[in-house]
Amino acid sequence: MSLRCDLRLKELLHNPPPEGSMVTVQGWVRANRAGKHIAFITLNDGSELAGLQLVLDATLLEDYTSATRIGTGAAIIASGAVHLTPGHPQPLEIQVHTITIVGDSDPEYPLQKKRHSFEYLREIAHLRPRTNTFGAVFRTRSTMAQAVHRFFAEQGFLYVTTPIITASDCEGAGELFNVTTHEPGSHASPQDDFFGTKTALTVSGQLEGELFAQAFSAIYTFGPTFRAENSNTPRHAAEFWMIEPEMAFADLADNADLAETFVKALLRRALEDLPEDLAFFDRMIAPGLLERIRSVAEHSFERMSYTEAIRHLEAAPSGFSYPVSWGADLQTEHERYLCEQVVGGPVFILDYPRAIKAFYMRDNDDGRTVAAMDLLVPGVGELIGGSQREERLDRLDTKMQASGIDPASLWWYRDSRRWGSTPHAGFGLGFERFLMYLTGMENIRDVLPFPRTPRHAAF
Ligand code: 4AD
Ligand code: MG
Repeated sequence: MSLRCDLRLKELLHNPPPEGSMVTVQGWVRANRAGKHIAFITLNDGSELAGLQLVLDATLLEDYTSATRIGTGAAIIASGAVHLTPGHPQPLEIQVHTITIVGDSDPEYPLQKKRHSFEYLREIAHLRPRTNTFGAVFRTRSTMAQAVHRFFAEQGFLYVTTPIITASDCEGAGELFNVTTHEPGSHASPQDDFFGTKTALTVSGQLEGELFAQAFSAIYTFGPTFRAENSNTPRHAAEFWMIEPEMAFADLADNADLAETFVKALLRRALEDLPEDLAFFDRMIAPGLLERIRSVAEHSFERMSYTEAIRHLEAAPSGFSYPVSWGADLQTEHERYLCEQVVGGPVFILDYPRAIKAFYMRDNDDGRTVAAMDLLVPGVGELIGGSQREERLDRLDTKMQASGIDPASLWWYRDSRRWGSTPHAGFGLGFERFLMYLTGMENIRDVLPFPRTPRHAAF
């Protein structure tokens, strides 16, 4: 016998069957309001924001009294007749004939009616998916992940999964989580370790992605990424997901064009596929959000050089906590000022100083900048980081040495510059940063199912 009924509430509410049709539904009780002769249960199965109203009538139910005692959070299966309710917020309700409690719930269930703070809900991350906000967030996350694959499939990009355990630090920032089978405190050498060398969780799939781009022309990765950044900010997670496309025969302008097309395609897909959830974010999380997304999806993104950005920052009427001058890396406060105050929308910052960027970025002819690009968006700051890559072997070697990287350790990466090297470019989009931008959620912990941040990995 199968327990599973195939009717999801989303389908029922969007395609109501005729009046009087018999249906069976299942889900979790959001509220149970009981009177002497009639009770109303709001049921939710996660398929959509709106719950389904179940009407329990004492004259129709065998055991009305126990039905009135079904607690918030209980799992139930109910069968009954569809009653269409045109003109009401909900298109229909169910006149229940039988109700089965599959998993009861007691009054200690932490998600009673009142609104809880996001901080509190993080402490009960095992239950928060059952709230309206996190239901909407994780439906959005799922739909957008699928939209990412769809976009690149339509653009003819090959999907490649790059290793999670690696022996190279792509970004060179030293923010690695080591992977070892040695006991903590062991002094055994890396040669005696499982892989015979020092390994860590990947900080980026780019280097391997570049190799695949030199065979498949255009590729993308979409995978978990790990950084032991000890910065407890609302925008950094120790484990996050990154989408990294890479194109052969492409320069920085092609790269920015792809990034812009990509972000807009995701926004349009969200508008199309997630109308209820976006309307909820607009109402409850970030007023004006829908209007903003619609407008961003239709207008072109600004492009500005790093040098120009510094001029804007130096001319800013109020000071920053981190001083700015040419050569300094941009901090979140600078990034937000540029996109929020100067541009009023997404902006690409191009051609950063060579000294503050990774070894693989292509040297510009001016001798002091590289073909780097960051996409900054209001509310979030950096959404995308990318570049054209240094495809000239001699330059690459010089840059590796300047960054303290032994070229021999990346011999396979160097090889890609020896045989059929092409100008190529790519970027990384932080999936959670994108979700923050899309939903208006202000903390990265609230768009990750089970966030990993400093001192937090319990569940
Ligand atoms: O700018 P980043 O460090 O670029 C790279 O890793 C390149 N290898 C990408 C490439 O060119 N293929 O990171 C890319 C993006 C950032 O713009 C940000 O959105 C996100 O990844 N990101 C983080 N998101 C959450 N938590 C963190 N700790 C993040 N670090 C980076
Ligand atoms: Mg970056």
